Formats: sequence, C-alpha cells, structure tokens
Amino acid sequence: MSHVVVVGSFNVDHVWNCATLPRPGETLSGRYHTGPGGKGFNQAIAAARAGAQTGLLCALGGDEGGRQARALAQADGIDLRVHDSAQPTGTAGIYVDEAGQNTIVIGAGANADLSVAWLGRQAAALAGARVLLSQLESPLDSVLEAMRLARAAGTITMLNPAPANAQCLRELLAAADILTPNETEFAALLERHTSHRIDRDEIAGAPDAQLHRLCRTLLPRGTVVITLGAAGAFVSHREDLLRGDDAPFYRVAAEKVEPVDTTGAGDAFNGALAAAYAAAPAQPFAAHVRFANRYAGLSTERVGAALAMPRLTPGG
Ligand code: RIB
Ligand code: NA
Repeated sequence: MSHVVVVGSFNVDHVWNCATLPRPGETLSGRYHTGPGGKGFNQAIAAARAGAQTGLLCALGGDEGGRQARALAQADGIDLRVHDSAQPTGTAGIYVDEAGQNTIVIGAGANADLSVAWLGRQAAALAGARVLLSQLESPLDSVLEAMRLARAAGTITMLNPAPANAQCLRELLAAADILTPNETEFAALLERHTSHRIDRDEIAGAPDAQLHRLCRTLLPRGTVVITLGAAGAFVSHREDLLRGDDAPFYRVAAEKVEPVDTTGAGDAFNGALAAAYAAAPAQPFAAHVRFANRYAGLSTERVGAALAMPRLTPGG
C-alpha cells in the first residue's frame, strides 16, 4: 500500500530559455530542452524521492511520452496506475526568461481523459493511502471524486490548487484537509470564494494575524500552507486540530539557494510535504513544512521539473 497517492497530470515539457519572454508578433530564439513534467507526475516523483511509498493515478497516451512516463515511474519505484487514453500524452510549452520567470501553455491531451468512472475503480488505492495529493491540471470532477473517496476512507486529502486560473470549485475546497496555494493562487481563491481581497504582492509582507484570518475564512475546516517562494511558507491551522508543538499560525523560512530553474519548485514542495506528513503524521507539522522548503529549494538548483527532484528524506 502506498503512503502517498497522487492523482494528477503527466506532461512532456518542452522548455525554451530565452533572454525575455516572447511578446505578440515576436520571434525569439532560446536554448531548448525537453523532459518529463506535469504537476501530478512532478509531485509523485518528489514524494517518492523524499522517501514515501508512492502511487500515481494518471492518464497517458499510447505514444513515446506515455512510455517515458511509465519507465520513469518504474525507475523511481512508483506504483503507477494508468488510464489508457486515445489522446496524445499531455504536453507543456514553457518559456523561461533570464529572471527565471516562466509562461506555460498546456496541451492537456490524455490528462483530460482521467475520468470519474475510472477513478471510482481505484477506490482501494485511495483508501489504502495515508495522504492523497492532487492538483487542478486534471478534470475537476475527477479530482473531486478522488478526494471524496479518499476522505470517506480516512485518508488525509491535500490539494495544491494549481494552476491559478483553474476553476477551483467550492466543493474541492470543502474536501481538502490541507490546501497549499502559492501567492497568486491564494489571492485568486479569496477573490473567487470570499468577500475578502489581498493583492498577491502584499501577501509575503502582510501581518501573520491577517493572513491567518484570511486562511480561516477560505478553509475553515482545514490547514492552509501558503508557499511564498524564496520567503518560505506561511501556515494556518484550524485551532481545534492543533497537535504537539504547533502554534495556530506561523512562518517557516526558506533556506538560501542559488536557483537555476524554478519550474516544478511548487511541485517539489507539495510532494515533499505529503511524504513527510505521511511518514510521521503525529509530529509537529512545522517540521514537515521546514523539510518541504528545504526540498523545494534544492530542486531549484537543478534544471528541469520531475528530473530535478532531489533524493532527500526527512531524516536525511
Ligand atoms: O508545475 C510545473 C509543471 O507545470 C510543468 O512540469 C508543466 O508540465 C506544467 O504542468
Ligand atoms: Na528545477
């Protein structure tokens, strides 16, 4: 049985590093590389390399990308369950500029075929895990089905509400025990689901008590972890669920790194957090967040998404 089960996407990433991001009508040239990605796959590789027995439920095409995903998952010991799709395997076109900013276009392909009916047949895998981790690059009704099946069986549900423009349904929030938005996603979720507003650029500098109130409004029944990039993370717990040494809200600083490619850094954080939590659910949550920060920081020191995930376990 897996400790962490990820439900999500696999994409073949096509990446161009350019001086600036292309503007309408512009033709640029850049350094190109390709490699495995997709938020679900990246998070599963991170969880596995962070020491968790990991399962991945995803949809793949019968093409080279699909074969690559299977081989890589096997090499990392991931229990991969595939919904075979007649669509081409998912793709992402990624431009990265010199400041490390990126723009991404997704071709969902096979990922769009991850169906509610197929997930329903994976109920045992979802029930057997300690933590289910999902994102919003798969059909949202399927993500919701997975979260409901997991929760009904006592599996902790973790939702990374990425990408920010996905229509994160209220039902998805309600099904999440742990929600892990970045600043953009947090601002977007507040705007969509509450009467509160905060600018994404004001989040890292906002008073902790204000962030805590906003988190409680957004997810009254669960834990919110806002990832703040180089500034680390902010954590807000539901107060009657506190365990051990945990305070209701706190920040966890990030370690200093020399980033070369931040693609997949959020995925590194999520996979590592799920792995650490699944390994020691009774331990103070702050320690898991500290580990996830460290793990994500290291992932930015290597080029690529899934293949940049370091081998580093919470005790290591
Ligand atoms: O989070 C990074 C990922 O987003 C990339 O690997 C790309 O595939 C997109 O899904
Ligand atoms: Na990276």
